[in-house]
Amino acid sequence: MKKISLFFIGLLSLGGVATAQPSKATLVIETDQPQAKIHKEIYGQFAEHLGAGIYGGIWVGKNSKIPNIDGYRRDVVEAIKQLAVPVIRWPGGCFADQYHWMDGVGPQDKRKHLINSNWGGVVEDNSFGTNEFLNFCELVGAEPYISGNLGSGTPQEMADWVEYMTFDGSSPMADLRRANGRDKPWKVKFWGVGNESWGCGGNMTPEYYSDLYRRYATFLHNYSGNQLYKIASGANGNDYNWTDVVMKAVGHRMQGISLHYYTVPKTWADKGSATSFDTQEYLTSIEKTLYMNELITKHSAIMDKYDPQKKIGLIVDEWGIWTNVEPGTNPGFLFQQNSLRDAIIAALNFNIFDQHADRVRMANIAQMVNVLQSIILTKGDKMVLTPTYYAFEMYKGHMGGELLNTQLTCDQINLGQEKSPMLSVSASSKDGVITLSIVNIDPTNDADLTCDLRGGTFKSVLGEILTSKNLTDINTFDVPSTVQLKPFTSAKLKGSNVTLKVPAKSIITLTIQ
Ligand code: AHR
Repeated sequence: MKKISLFFIGLLSLGGVATAQPSKATLVIETDQPQAKIHKEIYGQFAEHLGAGIYGGIWVGKNSKIPNIDGYRRDVVEAIKQLAVPVIRWPGGCFADQYHWMDGVGPQDKRKHLINSNWGGVVEDNSFGTNEFLNFCELVGAEPYISGNLGSGTPQEMADWVEYMTFDGSSPMADLRRANGRDKPWKVKFWGVGNESWGCGGNMTPEYYSDLYRRYATFLHNYSGNQLYKIASGANGNDYNWTDVVMKAVGHRMQGISLHYYTVPKTWADKGSATSFDTQEYLTSIEKTLYMNELITKHSAIMDKYDPQKKIGLIVDEWGIWTNVEPGTNPGFLFQQNSLRDAIIAALNFNIFDQHADRVRMANIAQMVNVLQSIILTKGDKMVLTPTYYAFEMYKGHMGGELLNTQLTCDQINLGQEKSPMLSVSASSKDGVITLSIVNIDPTNDADLTCDLRGGTFKSVLGEILTSKNLTDINTFDVPSTVQLKPFTSAKLKGSNVTLKVPAKSIITLTIQ
């Protein structure tokens, strides 16, 4: 009898179904050896004029029946504030290189109506423009990151935009700002000089783009104590040549260079469903997500050749899972649902960005509301927080912390082409508090984890967990709390050891002090 049950357990574990015994894992954390600062902007957002990303998602106008603060949806404002979103990129994306900012200032009823030819060919009424965006950032406490138009705009137009936003004295653009109701300039630090200039931003070669960057950036001035952090349009995924050419030709004329990489579960032609996928498709999505680590490592090594002191930041200003749109929705609006899988993908990306904190200065998920891997979905007056929202919430403690050195020993999981450790972690320290985030990628197997906290004494551990019955579980407008953040109370602290069981397909964050 005993023999049969042992044999049965063996079969189960071979087949990848739940094992009787959780896998054993250990983690050493050197709590007194900080590595690099985790810039809070790694947890940034991106909001483009695309689908309901702005209109309906953030901006409903002052006369809307949807509860709003000066035209901004109240529910969305509160959710963003709760997350302490550090930075928001705007107005695109591809939209940025067709955007002429003058169309979006002045009396709203006089603004030009244009075609949003990148995204669904719908009418853009320009009612959300520069003042509306910068006031929104002030309202939610986030820094603005402006994506300037290098593709179809002029250097003069970009220079004027900086003057309009940031000049304190009397000048044509500062006076126009005043006439539009804003006396004091805003502080605007992050400035993108073009977007995807290898593609929708102008189909340029890196050599041609570098020349244009040098020209446009020359006229972007630091006014009235404002200090611009200029970001060059960077590579598409593994286009290492782009990074090499721009680093060599532009060098320290820029403070950052971007990188765009999306997790596409299947192919670009048929990306896969956001809500219906099997275990293998999940594992492939994870494998494709983990590729971000190789991309950052290799782009960073190229940057090291020209910038060994790592002064130039790698700005991952578009990342996230990109699936097929929800059936029945406008294909140009990129509206997709968001499952537990997506929260795990977000957490894995956070762990990778944190590990590369010496080079990754900012990252912006695509996109904040109603577009691609959103943290918030809206429909009329309803709003729902996605599993990805909760992943951001769980990582708040890492913002501005010092990355800690960790050594993880755990079982491997077969993803398809490659294997990966079943767990992924990030540990940081801020004001004597350790934040430890753990992701269990494995869809079926739990892990018993022992953490050895070296170099400090600790008295308490608190935790929270995000998981659900199925990887495909989502939050909907009718059932908004299927995937919810819950307290995690079973981590035990004894001396310098913390022990816990990390359930399959879960994210846990511990706060240890
Ligand atoms: O995020 C959606 C689009 O993806 C952006 O507009 C573009 O920059 C990228 O190709």
